Amino acid sequence: MGVDKLTLTFYFYSTILELYKLENKSFMLTKKQKKVFDYIQDSTKKKGICPSHEEMRRHFKLSSVSTVNHYLNILQEKGYIKREKNTARSAEIEQKESFIEIPFRGYIAAGLPIEAVEEFETITIPSNLATTGNLFALGVKGDSMIDEGIFDGDTVIIKKQNTVEDGETAVALINNSEVTLKKIFKEKNRIRLQPANPKLKPFYVKEIIIQGKVISAFRNLEEREKKDGKVRFDNIYRSDCVELMKSMNEDSVDLTVTSPPYDELRNYKGYSFDFENIAKQLYRITKKGGVLIWVVGDKIKKGNKSLTSFKQALFFQQIGFNVHDVMIYKKKNTPFMRSNAYTNCFEFMYVLSKGSPKTFNPLKVKTVRQGQEKLPSNKGADGINKKVLGELKPEKTMTNIWDYAVGYGGSTSDKIAFEHPAIFPEKLAEDHILSWTNVGDLVFDPMCGSGTTCKVAKKNNRHYIGCDISEDYVNLAKKRVGI
Ligand SMILES: C[S@@+](CC[C@H](N)C(=O)[O-])C[C@H]1O[C@@H](n2cnc3c(N)ncnc32)[C@H](O)[C@@H]1O
Repeated sequence: MGVDKLTLTFYFYSTILELYKLENKSFMLTKKQKKVFDYIQDSTKKKGICPSHEEMRRHFKLSSVSTVNHYLNILQEKGYIKREKNTARSAEIEQKESFIEIPFRGYIAAGLPIEAVEEFETITIPSNLATTGNLFALGVKGDSMIDEGIFDGDTVIIKKQNTVEDGETAVALINNSEVTLKKIFKEKNRIRLQPANPKLKPFYVKEIIIQGKVISAFRNLEEREKKDGKVRFDNIYRSDCVELMKSMNEDSVDLTVTSPPYDELRNYKGYSFDFENIAKQLYRITKKGGVLIWVVGDKIKKGNKSLTSFKQALFFQQIGFNVHDVMIYKKKNTPFMRSNAYTNCFEFMYVLSKGSPKTFNPLKVKTVRQGQEKLPSNKGADGINKKVLGELKPEKTMTNIWDYAVGYGGSTSDKIAFEHPAIFPEKLAEDHILSWTNVGDLVFDPMCGSGTTCKVAKKNNRHYIGCDISEDYVNLAKKRVGI
């Protein structure tokens, strides 16, 4: 980093570390969001006017303007643009100067020193956080600065400087190779590196190189909650679902309704999934009597069905789930045509329970004939088979083949949901939620995509937790659910 060795200048008074706690990094943009913002900014500069929705759709080769809208809404929420109703143009840049980009230089130990990492990325921060000077950011590992409000997983903003005042929190290079984050105190003939955690002892060195002073810290609240094992109800997390489930309590979920990537049929922005660990975690977090609905289809490769769904069902059984039922999700329209086989129009819905299901509210359908009818009664002694007037049952329990219209207006009428390539119908999620849970129960979807399960759980007064590995899908799901 090109820092000179120095003699520390000490003033014998403590300074108060100014820490800003910015929750959720709500101002930070994903790469895609940043591209959209940069495009709006560049076009506005060049043409003096903001690009229209249609221009943006064409530029990013998007299938619909609703996707453009989705990005504009995010940029607006994060304070990057301003939008006015009834204008032909899409947006206006909001106070361009209010955000700046600074380099993210990797991770630093707030516990034991570790080697410096030099991963060059950038992060966007509000410019009011930036005092004059050269800034960079570091991710914090360890808990040695918790009394200063700096926790494992936080990001600290560092102002490059090679001196600090006594008691200030600094990034220090020791033994010419290890970097650490500590409060610095000059003592007679030595320098004390003081953790801000009563459980940890200070350590002493003869000399250090100061690389900068901490001027602010912020935290991704969701990351923090996951680490603390506090996954909040009624929230949607961006995470690998195995990691998220590890921080969820054992025996805590009443119902999971989910649909995994089928045989990696679509690559969902490049993510794959670790089936066996997902299955084991699902078993661990499911309540006794809780249910898992696993909606899945098989890939056909060179005319041969993979049967992955069968293998998965057998694995679920092997680790303790009860295969309570194998149901069929039949698609009323857009079935998959094959030239030399019957048209494929269904997927499996494995109903897996931890013991016997504790809740079953059977869904009913109307019977075809209703009202009163003469029904046959037993023969009397005279041998004549009499008919007596009786009431026909008005409804009966549904079968285990459920059919749904799919596509727009079928799966959902939320246009935005179709930004995800593989949603299941809202009604499918709703039918399972009503069948296997009661009001106030917890419904989980570890791979929630566009948020269908969460949306319907909320609508039916159930708690929900959603998770997806893709930030774009999490944003989409949050939008659909209204959080
Ligand atoms: C079939 S889609 C789910 C669609 C969802 N049922 C809906 O109605 O929108 C599968 C989802 O799994 C997500 N995914 C894949 N691997 C994952 C993982 N390890 N952890 C969390 N989500 C994952 C993908 O990003 C994708 O959105």
